[in-house]
Amino acid sequence: MDTTIKEILTQEEFSKKNIIRLLKSEGEDRTLLFKKSADVKEKFIGNKVWFRGLIEFSNVCGKDCLYCGIRKGNKNLERYSLSDDEILAAARFAYDNRYGSIALQSGELESQFVTNRIESLLHKIKELSNGELGVTLSVGEQEPEVYKKWYEAGAHRYLLRVESTNQDLYNKIHPNDSKHNFNRRLECLKSLQDIGYQTGTGVMIGLPFQTIDDLAGDLLFMKEFNIDMCGMGPYIEHADTPLIEHAENLLPLKERFDLTLKMIAIIRIMMRDINIVAATALQTIDPIGREKAVKIGANILMPNITPGKYRDSYKLYDNKPCTDDSAEDCQSCLEARVRLADAEVIYGEWGDSKHYNGRRLKAKG
Ligand code: 5AD
Ligand code: FES
Repeated sequence: MDTTIKEILTQEEFSKKNIIRLLKSEGEDRTLLFKKSADVKEKFIGNKVWFRGLIEFSNVCGKDCLYCGIRKGNKNLERYSLSDDEILAAARFAYDNRYGSIALQSGELESQFVTNRIESLLHKIKELSNGELGVTLSVGEQEPEVYKKWYEAGAHRYLLRVESTNQDLYNKIHPNDSKHNFNRRLECLKSLQDIGYQTGTGVMIGLPFQTIDDLAGDLLFMKEFNIDMCGMGPYIEHADTPLIEHAENLLPLKERFDLTLKMIAIIRIMMRDINIVAATALQTIDPIGREKAVKIGANILMPNITPGKYRDSYKLYDNKPCTDDSAEDCQSCLEARVRLADAEVIYGEWGDSKHYNGRRLKAKG
């Protein structure tokens, strides 16, 4: 007879077969999975949530990912870039509201101009916050020297979603050219880790052609790669992207949502002390989607502090929530939401991944 879900959940390491069983769990088994992941979070993280003020500072992108609303080829979109002053004002808002840290995110561009601009912004952000505000970058693939420069200028966390760790699937959701190379993405992740960043990655869930086997592989990859932070969200189709032609073959939104919660729960159990973000895309499907993620394992929320007039244009997918809110609205809304999940927002701390600290201590021997 097969092992029961209860037995699987007592194991220290999960085999691929057992991860697949967990991803397929229903009813009481599913409840057991979520109970276990909530317990692991409570034990290793506490019922806490840290904020990262998210500044989507530009939707200009040099790439053409087939799923993404801000892809270069999408002409139905007004492009914007915040001025340095606007970015710094948003950073100051985060600092004044004791967010602890911010995340700078944009489309992917590689150029000397971008390198220098971000370096100079990092210095200015450190200056305006007396070195206190932590900075996460999420600006795509870059050369190791560039990552190093930014690290030295004060960035200490980097998010680069691998999107899918199955190379065949990766190739199906990206153009097949040198700008969208699976191996380069992995090399970038490796160099971020080597330089010393807290390194975050993740995947989209419910992509066309994606199987449960792929998702189990993604979780094993993250464990093997020893990531510090994880950001995973449901894939949500966007009308102005090439992948829209597969919309009819997708899992129903509710199932993509449910699978995302299970992915979060399983990675929380597999890598108990990493930071896990409750992705905004969850809220597109369920109004209290992010709260549900916090309950079963996520510990990071990213209130959007991009100036309101630009929010509508950072549309990675259709029906992105909160594009009409101001930064203040976002904060009070999220606070109430965190309380709803019986958790507590921790202000004035970076909220570093405990996993990272453990990993660094081990490396020092
Ligand atoms: N649905 C869900 N997530 C998306 N992203 C991009 N396009 C979509 C989409 N259509 C995610 C990618 C990217 C992150 C910034 O947004 O995973 O890494
Ligand atoms: Fe911009 Fe993929 S479309 S990084």
